[in-house]
Order: sequence, then C-alpha cells, then structure tokens
Amino acid sequence: MRNIVLIGFMGTGKSTVGRRLAQSLAWNFADTDYEIGEVTKLSVSEIFRRHGETRFRSEERIVVERLSQEEKLVIATGGGTVLNPSNWRALAENGIIISLYATLEVILNRIGHRNDRPLLRNTREEIESLWSERQPYYEKADFTIDTTFKTIDEVVSEILALLGGMAIHEFTRMAKD
Ligand code: S3P
Repeated sequence: MRNIVLIGFMGTGKSTVGRRLAQSLAWNFADTDYEIGEVTKLSVSEIFRRHGETRFRSEERIVVERLSQEEKLVIATGGGTVLNPSNWRALAENGIIISLYATLEVILNRIGHRNDRPLLRNTREEIESLWSERQPYYEKADFTIDTTFKTIDEVVSEILALLGGMAIHEFTRMAKD
C-alpha cells in the first residue's frame, strides 16, 4: 500500500491538511520537519541558526528516506523537501504526490506575523522569487489542489474525493483484466 505525500510552499497547509486527512483515512501521519526536530532535538529555526541550511537538508534527506519506506502514511513535507531529486524519487516511488498550491498573497496573509520560518525572514522580493523558482518542482506532482480560497476541510474533502475516484478507477481496471 502506498503513502500519500503532500508537497507545496510554506503556508499551503500541508501539515494541517495532512493530519486531518490521516484521521479521515485512519492512516498514520508524519511531518518531515517534526521528525527532523525529534532526531536533532532542535527546532527547524535552531538548526538553521546553529548549523545552517546544509545541515538541515542532510537531516531532511535521512528522514525522507526512512518515511518513504513506510506504508499507509500521510507525509507532510517541508517546502524545500522535493527540490532534492533523491527525496523526490524516494517519495514518488512509494507514494502518490499531491501538491497544495496557494497564491503568494494568500500565503503571506495566512502566515501573518506568527513567522518562525527561517526562509520567510527574507524580504518580500526574496520570498517572491523563492515562490516562483519552486513552482516548477511542485507542478510535477501527480495532482495539484488550489487551496487559495478553500478551508482546510474543503481541501481534505477534495483529496478524499480524488482518492475515492482513483480507487474506483483501479477497481474497474482490475475487474476488466
Ligand atoms: C522550508 C520549509 C519549512 C521547513 C524549513 C525550510 C523551505 O517547512 O522545512 O523552514 O525550504 O521551504 P514548511 O513548508 O512546513 O513551512
């Protein structure tokens, strides 16, 4: 049985949606940032501050490799996780990849002042170019859901409908074989 992997920019709701989706499916849930914190005993911003982004990315790589081997797991990734081709390969090999999209305007509104993400401490222009540079990576997902004007529950329902549709499709195909 495969995993469900949520990708997308910071603030697109990957963790909240993922947790609720896992509940609905009675699957387990894992968040790569949380797992990195468990392994290193440091918060994401502390790792960036004390050891730099390179160290964070190598811890992330190890966590992704481990989680990719699991089954029936909803995995919420960090915004930069799938930029590493090895992470993409591992996650895609055993999972369906769903990208959560939102406009930068909405993302910045959602995040507001509660901002403890190291990469969002940059200027508006820098965040904007990060957002643009990353879209081609997110667009490679199996499915994309535009979350811009949707509540968390609406996004979860849309994913469940998508999965339901896939299951029916696979069932029909099996019956024909
Ligand atoms: C990052 C996103 C963060 C976290 C780290 C780097 C990124 O995760 O992994 O701060 O490169 O976009 P969220 O997308 O969950 O905020």
